[in-house]
Amino acid sequence: MGNCNIKSFTLNELKEQNNKNPRYILIDKYVYNIESIFKKHPGGLNCLYERCITLENCKEDYYFHSKFSKKKWDKLLVGKLIE
Ligand code: HEM
Repeated sequence: MGNCNIKSFTLNELKEQNNKNPRYILIDKYVYNIESIFKKHPGGLNCLYERCITLENCKEDYYFHSKFSKKKWDKLLVGKLIE
């Protein structure tokens, strides 16, 4: 954590943004901007784009990753979903 610049997003906002330019994924109500890892993700691009488009909960994906990568995810936290 340690990110004080947390923004609020509605689900519609996230969908709109991802349709224009896919970059937001969700873990529960938390929003991550993953655009900085597109070019270097060892798991490839497809799974990332897919998660942006579906906005499915990526909790399982998070747990799948190593301790090293979890720290990277944590740094990408940018916001929280509001109703
Ligand atoms: C915040 C987003 C993400 C970051 C920072 C990230 C980072 C990484 C890193 C550093 C690795 C190397 C292996 C490891 O350390 O565990 C990796 C592997 C992998 N990631 Fe991600 N990842 C992200 C999101 C995702 C998502 C949403 C998926 C969807 C399924 C995914 C699927 C995979 C897969 C399948 C591998 C294994 C690749 C292989 O070993 O062939 N990642 N990721």
